[in-house]
Amino acid sequence: MRLVIMGPPGAGKGTQAVMIAEEYSIPHISTGDIFRKNLKEGTPLGLKAKEYMDKGLLVPDEVVVEIVKDRLVKDDCKDGFLLDGFPRTVAQANALDHVLEDMNMGLDKVINIDVDKDVLIQRAVGRRVCAGCGATYHVRFNPSKKVGECDVCAGKVIQRDDDREETVVKRIEVYLEQTLPLIQYYKSRGLLVSINGEHEIQRVFEDITRAVGSGSE
Ligand code: AP5
Ligand code: MG
Repeated sequence: MRLVIMGPPGAGKGTQAVMIAEEYSIPHISTGDIFRKNLKEGTPLGLKAKEYMDKGLLVPDEVVVEIVKDRLVKDDCKDGFLLDGFPRTVAQANALDHVLEDMNMGLDKVINIDVDKDVLIQRAVGRRVCAGCGATYHVRFNPSKKVGECDVCAGKVIQRDDDREETVVKRIEVYLEQTLPLIQYYKSRGLLVSINGEHEIQRVFEDITRAVGSGSE
């Protein structure tokens, strides 16, 4: 199964992507996670990405496209993958089409998670992530069992630097300007499935798997 999950910041892409990747036994490729991992390791890529991420802006297309290209040729992507947070511009979507064409493959579905702006801000500002393994929590909607400690690895649970309210508002603006046109892009190719992301996490997951199917039909 070759899937893309898209939606505005805080829509629940990462939360659902972990569950979808497990359901279909495919790797979860999040460009945001790749940048955060690089930043943690202090690589030049991480430091470059931070300049944009902290302002709520997109990292330049050519940087992101190279990373995704390198990732998709890895062995574990042979039987499918789930892209989370990529593509995010029409230029990135075009580049992805070319990369997949060269590999003689195409996307099966693009999952669009739909959530109202007020809910997005609440979700992103209340989000907490594990500094160790990256597991995602929410102070109200999905808290860790022990405050400040990850359920999975007992790592420290912290707030992402770009989850301050003013940065979240900027990220939503950037999404509306640069990423929203992709809905039409994938709709016109017959790939888009839109899911109401305002239900609770398990219900959203069930709606996604129902819409995506088993991949054999
Ligand atoms: P990225 O990491 O991709 O961030 P994003 O797209 O802004 O999305 P988020 O990760 O904030 O939200 P999400 O939809 O994953 O929500 P989550 O599941 O965590 O990108 C970060 C930055 O990297 C970008 O701003 C950009 O600078 C750069 N970047 C990345 N990719 C790029 C690209 N392709 N091109 C250029 N630049 C790029 O959920 C949010 C919260 O809500 C959590 O607390 C969760 O517990 C809670 N929650 C989830 N679902 C529900 C639910 N159904 N009900 C209640 N609470 C819920
Ligand atoms: Mg995410």
